[in-house]
Amino acid sequence: MAKYWLLLLLLLLAFLLPAAHAKSCHPDDLCALRGFAGNLGGGGALLRAAWSGASCCRWEGVGCDSSNGRVTVLRLPRYGLAGPIPGASLAGLVQLEELFLGSNSFVGSLPKELFSLAGLRKLSLESNELTGKLSSRLGKLKNLTLLNLSVNRFFGRLPDVFGDLTSLDHLAMYSNGLSGSLPPSLSSLSSLCELNLRNNSLSGLISHVNFSGMPLLASVDFSANNLSGSLPVSLVDCSALKSLTLANNQLVGTIPSWIGELDNLRCLDISNNSLVGEVPKGLSCLEGLTAVDNSAGMAFTNMPLYVKHNRRALQQQANVISGNNNTVRSGGGNVLSGDNNTVISGNNNTLSGTNNTVVFGSNNVLTGSNHVVSGSNNVVSDTGHVVNGSSNTVSGRNNMVTGNNNTVSGSNHVVTGNNKVVTGG
Ligand SMILES: *[C@@H]1O[C@H](CO)[C@@H](O)[C@H](O)[C@H]1NC(C)=O
Ligand SMILES: *[C@@H]1O[C@H](CO)[C@@H](O)[C@H](O)[C@H]1NC(C)=O
Ligand SMILES: *[C@@H]1O[C@H](CO)[C@@H](O)[C@H](O)[C@H]1NC(C)=O
Ligand SMILES: *[C@@H]1O[C@H](CO)[C@@H](O)[C@H](O)[C@H]1NC(C)=O
Ligand SMILES: *[C@@H]1O[C@H](CO)[C@@H](O)[C@H](O)[C@H]1NC(C)=O
Ligand SMILES: *[C@@H]1O[C@H](CO)[C@@H](O)[C@H](O)[C@H]1NC(C)=O
Ligand SMILES: *[C@@H]1O[C@H](CO)[C@@H](O)[C@H](O)[C@H]1NC(C)=O
Ligand SMILES: *[C@@H]1O[C@H](CO)[C@@H](O)[C@H](O)[C@H]1NC(C)=O
Ligand SMILES: *[C@@H]1O[C@H](CO)[C@@H](O)[C@H](O)[C@H]1NC(C)=O
Ligand SMILES: *[C@@H]1O[C@H](CO)[C@@H](O)[C@H](O)[C@H]1NC(C)=O
Ligand SMILES: *[C@@H]1O[C@H](CO)[C@@H](O)[C@H](O)[C@H]1NC(C)=O
Ligand SMILES: *[C@@H]1O[C@H](CO)[C@@H](O)[C@H](O)[C@H]1NC(C)=O
Repeated sequence: MAKYWLLLLLLLLAFLLPAAHAKSCHPDDLCALRGFAGNLGGGGALLRAAWSGASCCRWEGVGCDSSNGRVTVLRLPRYGLAGPIPGASLAGLVQLEELFLGSNSFVGSLPKELFSLAGLRKLSLESNELTGKLSSRLGKLKNLTLLNLSVNRFFGRLPDVFGDLTSLDHLAMYSNGLSGSLPPSLSSLSSLCELNLRNNSLSGLISHVNFSGMPLLASVDFSANNLSGSLPVSLVDCSALKSLTLANNQLVGTIPSWIGELDNLRCLDISNNSLVGEVPKGLSCLEGLTAVDNSAGMAFTNMPLYVKHNRRALQQQANVISGNNNTVRSGGGNVLSGDNNTVISGNNNTLSGTNNTVVFGSNNVLTGSNHVVSGSNNVVSDTGHVVNGSSNTVSGRNNMVTGNNNTVSGSNHVVTGNNKVVTGG
């Protein structure tokens, strides 16, 4: 009998003094983790098999505070976990600080119990199939430094709760269906280094965010949304900014001279907006942009802007360019208006205005006057052009056409070369 009591006492001690042993976990957390695993579909069965015994601090993906045996970290990315996030069980991990469940197959919305984990510092749920509107209860997670909800199916407005999340340094919600305008409270994220809201349906003025109070901001990606307005001047205060990606929006206005004051800028993509006018002279100090290699992730489209006479190196993306003295290199499908523009090797551009020059480009459409064209397959109308390519269609008056296979109509042309079709006077 005495032996039996001794055994029971030992068992009791082992249970009551988990803190004495770094590897034992708090019974509440053990219970919560078992509940969590028990409710998982998909790879949950494998996880339940892996999580055997009661020493949960030794389980894979689990990290504890060794002083009290409380679970502080749960890191289970790419475990094939499926089903709704078992929020009620997670809420039992009252001292959880880091939750990484990315690249699984979780469905449903964020469980409301998640928002009771007030000690959370890092929450990363990217690349799942989570959906629903983002609750304003997000603002309860005041200690968050990292929030990554990217590549899910969240929709609706971003709640205006960032005034409560001022510890955030990384905020990523790209590739969801978020809509509505940018919440002004984003402006209060004074510790922010990375802000990525790419590929949503966000609309309204980009200047709803005041970037002035973000001295550490290194990377902003708002591309592929529906943001409007001009480039917010408050960005000039982000002296740490290395990468600014605002491509594929509805931004208007000029490319402002203060861009040239961003000394650390290495990647600038403002293509496929309706930014017009001249590239400011000040941009010559962005010469560093040209030196950057083409390593992965360096997507230059409207850039680099190594300016003497507003030269733009364009690739692929179509731009609307107006203003004077612009140079387009290798760009295609651009719409240019204004005067004295030069297109080098660009194809399928539409140019209007005067004194524009096309060198080696093909399939361009030019209207206006006094253009110099030496590409091929261009359609040139109006007056006073010098056309020196082949297979061009030229109409208008007073054009000088050399080269081959050109079709010329209109009057008063000077035509030399072979195989021309000439109609008119
Ligand atoms: C939030 O962080 C602060 C500072 O690190 C800490 O004192 C506080 O206990 C944390 N809040 C929670 C709910 O854990
Ligand atoms: C968000 O998750 C994606 C996918 O895992 C990752 O590439 C990205 O770096 C994460 N961003 C942040 C801020 O954690
Ligand atoms: C944009 O996000 C959607 C999901 O909302 C995704 O299906 C698509 O692949 C993303 N596109 C890009 C280019 O990342
Ligand atoms: C942006 O915030 C700064 C302070 O951080 C303030 O001085 C400035 O007036 C604000 N700009 C706008 C446009 O609200
Ligand atoms: C973008 O905004 C314009 C109006 O500014 C609207 O007509 C259009 O439907 C919007 N597109 C998307 C994809 O939200
Ligand atoms: C330009 O941006 C719009 C959205 O503003 C998008 O629908 C379109 O596909 C983009 N065009 C290119 C060539 O990327
Ligand atoms: C464009 O360049 C010409 C000389 O090449 C110069 O006379 C003219 O002022 C320039 N126009 C603008 C708007 O900078
Ligand atoms: C275009 O260039 C010519 C000289 O080549 C200059 O006289 C004229 O002012 C320029 N036009 C503009 C709008 O810059
Ligand atoms: C230009 O247009 C032609 C047909 O008109 C097409 O075959 C070619 O791919 C286009 N090139 C570019 C760069 O868009
Ligand atoms: C076009 O060039 C001529 C001289 O080369 C110049 O006199 C004229 O002002 C230019 N036109 C424009 C609109 O710049
Ligand atoms: C036209 O082509 C000839 C020979 O290819 C070249 O010598 C001449 O400079 C060209 N003229 C123009 C205006 O490009
Ligand atoms: C002009 O057309 C003839 C026959 O149609 C063809 O053989 C020749 O290659 C063409 N030349 C050019 C420069 O396109």
